Amino acid sequence: MAQQHARHRIGILGAGNILGRYAEGLRTFPEFEVVRVADIDPTRAKQAADEYDIAAWGDGAELLADDTVEIVVNITPPQFHAKTVIAALESGKHVYVEKPLATTVAEAREVLDAATRGTALLGSAPDTFLGSAVQTARHAVDTGLIGDAVGATAFVRSSRAETWHPDPRAFYGAGGGPVLDMGPYYLAALVNCLGPVAQVAAATRIGAPTRKVTSPGRVVDEITVEVPTHASATLTFASGAIATTLMSFDVWDTELPRIEIYGTEGTLALPNPNFFDGDVRLKRHGDTDWQVLTPVTELFGAVDTPEQHRRGLGVRDLAGATEGGPHRANPHFAFHILDVLTSFETSQQQNRFVALESSCARPEPRAATALAAPVAP
Ligand SMILES: NC(=O)c1ccc[n+]([C@@H]2O[C@H](COP(=O)([O-])OP(=O)(O)OC[C@H]3O[C@@H](n4cnc5c(N)ncnc54)[C@H](O)[C@@H]3O)[C@@H](O)[C@H]2O)c1
Repeated sequence: MAQQHARHRIGILGAGNILGRYAEGLRTFPEFEVVRVADIDPTRAKQAADEYDIAAWGDGAELLADDTVEIVVNITPPQFHAKTVIAALESGKHVYVEKPLATTVAEAREVLDAATRGTALLGSAPDTFLGSAVQTARHAVDTGLIGDAVGATAFVRSSRAETWHPDPRAFYGAGGGPVLDMGPYYLAALVNCLGPVAQVAAATRIGAPTRKVTSPGRVVDEITVEVPTHASATLTFASGAIATTLMSFDVWDTELPRIEIYGTEGTLALPNPNFFDGDVRLKRHGDTDWQVLTPVTELFGAVDTPEQHRRGLGVRDLAGATEGGPHRANPHFAFHILDVLTSFETSQQQNRFVALESSCARPEPRAATALAAPVAP
């Protein structure tokens, strides 16, 4: 007999730029049904309902009052996350929120408190570390393919939001900048592979003080930059591994890699952690060539296609946790990542190493199969 899939009814809060990627991504999971979309601007909610064939639309209060909604997917801009996540949790709904968890550690702590107080579960982006690439790297580290992990590098290049996002103000205001906007993908990959960070030393600055907006359908022509757009940081992990990071919206071109992890026996090179899948390459001491590792999980989507931009794996992780499964993209993991990233600014302002107060367990690995022998490229 065919197995019946549990149906999880989802309400989306925030009908902006990333909505389509969630609407399309969630549709690929048979256990999900998006039953409502809400926005502070009702015309956006209605447009989204029409475009993605979602039965009900309205504002945030109507979403929380809708008893058919079990999971709220919160894709409002970062400065609204804390308030709207806490309200949804307090209404008894499970919540999956986009990154960053909040714009400050103080706000994020309130969110974490709300999540641990009640019975509703909170999941948070990024979820790309659940994809095959970071999971394969994790498996390689855990099975000793590079020996003991000594160090890592992570380089965030410009996302050039002003060239493609109609309202890129959030990228250059509180909760934005390369550190909080893109940094979570890189930190999630590193913390998943190497464990929690113990201390951070960073230097940060604003590059160009204003940005000309050239995106199609733009709602503003120029932005004043309010947060650092160029940051260099050294992260010391509790394990003793040391990572060198550069996170910048001012690097217009580079040949730097995305993420590499260095061990006593060799090096792992990871693809863009903003995507779920892609080649993870290994070169051990004595090897003449890099070798591509066989993925240890199924792929989320076809590599180098727009399928990598779809979202939904993190919501599936949360839905699985509501049924007693492992909760990998959990709020403690997201809180630690935010704590690490916000400490860049603390380190810059106070001119010192910052010892992290938070920590987290490494999420349970997803490896479905033992890592097969590396295959030659
Ligand atoms: N756009 C992307 O490419 C992208 C990629 C990955 C993650 N994200 C994350 O997704 C989130 C949303 O990004 P976006 O680019 O879609 O933003 P956006 O500005 O395009 O859209 C946000 C929407 O939320 C609505 N909104 C604001 N406050 C609200 C409230 N209190 N209640 C209900 N609706 C409210 C706005 O009216 C708007 O329609 C952010 O956390 C961002 O970091 C975006």
